[in-house]
Amino acid sequence: MIVCACQNLTLDDIVEAMEKHGNDTETIRSVTCAGKGCGECLETPCEEVDLPFPYALLNAEAILKQR
Ligand code: FES
Repeated sequence: MIVCACQNLTLDDIVEAMEKHGNDTETIRSVTCAGKGCGECLETPCEEVDLPFPYALLNAEAILKQR
């Protein structure tokens, strides 16, 4: 599931980043470089992005809580 097409990030990448660095939004953006391109992934779904970054954070949090 693509979260940021410009940085080639998937939901798994976001989960992995949160495991290592916690759930602070700006920290996760910084370590993954999410949104440092066209910026589309910071707002709404588009043709290139399945799960925009804000939603990916919520999903990743839920995944980590289940582990
Ligand atoms: S899709 Fe994330 S910056 Fe372009």
